[in-house]
Amino acid sequence: MKSHKIAVIAGDGIGPEVIGEGVKVLKAISELNPEINFEFTDFPWSCEYYLKTGKMLPDDGMKILEKFDAIYLGAVGYPGVPDHVSLWGLLLKIRKGFDQYINLRPVKLLEGAECPLKGVDRSRIDMIVVRENSEGEYAGAGDWLFKGKPEEVVLQTGVFSRKGTERVIRYAYELARKEGKTLTSISKANALNYSMVFWDQVFEEVGKEYPEVKTYSYLVDAACMFFVKQPERFQIVVTSNLFGDIVTDLGAAIAGGLGLAAGANLNPERTYPSMFEPVHGSAPDIAGQGKANPLASIWSVSQMLDFFGYESWGKAVLEAIEKVMTEKKSLTPDMGGTAKTNEVGDAVIKALGELA
Ligand code: NAI
Ligand code: MG
Repeated sequence: MKSHKIAVIAGDGIGPEVIGEGVKVLKAISELNPEINFEFTDFPWSCEYYLKTGKMLPDDGMKILEKFDAIYLGAVGYPGVPDHVSLWGLLLKIRKGFDQYINLRPVKLLEGAECPLKGVDRSRIDMIVVRENSEGEYAGAGDWLFKGKPEEVVLQTGVFSRKGTERVIRYAYELARKEGKTLTSISKANALNYSMVFWDQVFEEVGKEYPEVKTYSYLVDAACMFFVKQPERFQIVVTSNLFGDIVTDLGAAIAGGLGLAAGANLNPERTYPSMFEPVHGSAPDIAGQGKANPLASIWSVSQMLDFFGYESWGKAVLEAIEKVMTEKKSLTPDMGGTAKTNEVGDAVIKALGELA
């Protein structure tokens, strides 16, 4: 029997509420299939922990996490703790420290999900965005000169290493080949005359090794328009850190909103653990009321199952989510229902049992 060690960092606000439901789903799967086993270890690292200890993560936190197969993270953020503290002190520390250079964001309009686009058939919105997750415009490189003076100058440098650019693009080609899908690169070489010219060049170079993959290349502004007008153009998408951040939120918007958006931060070599999380934050406005929608967090469980190689279970979880959404009986208020967070989790587990 294979056992997977999962570090659970539920975090703040609704984090623990939605993560609890995802853990329930994983436990249900190991009951349905005794060949699969998960061991969960909870860590209290969060903004509340920061207020008590002055740290988001203890000094040996990364050493402790390194031994796990995956990290399941809720959300961090708490009124009174600046967002850059929680982001850089925990999330980015893990993403960078564990070289999770792939951010994988499914943009798929599930059955029963609301789409703000008029008359869109579900099959037209089904893509996976591969976002570069370690460098680019978010490398943190730059300078702030003559601060406060009239000649003040601020520089924010985009960092595109050959290694960093090649590996994300290669990952996307591999995925496109495996899935038999087209690959679209989103860049902006007309305006960003170093970084994006380089990006486009690497996209072409690596592509020579994948002659069977059909490719497209769009400028980011045009791509945003197509996301809304012709989302069916996109199957696998690869893009830089900044562009990926923006287009994935646009993707979330056309595929049912924050309550359904999940993201995986992958270290594909598996040298370090990968991290799975809902995209939304800690939602302090609804925390502690049982109103949080756990479906995004359950979708990230589906991504975790895929990553562990249980793709049929990953698919089953999505189908169970679809079932719950089409039945409309157990949905939280953000989806127009009256169910509590735990009732949605229960409904997903019931649907899974019926599918299995
Ligand atoms: P948010 O995602 O927490 O909330 C935005 C709006 O969406 C709120 O009205 C909230 O009630 C609603 N919402 C979010 N998730 C929901 C869910 N699962 N079910 C039902 N409604 C949901 O974003 P906001 O308000 O900008 O940030 C709140 C805190 O979360 C901040 O401290 C921020 O830094 C942090 N944050 C953390 C993230 C992370 O840990 N990955 C990501 C985004 C924000
Ligand atoms: Mg974002």
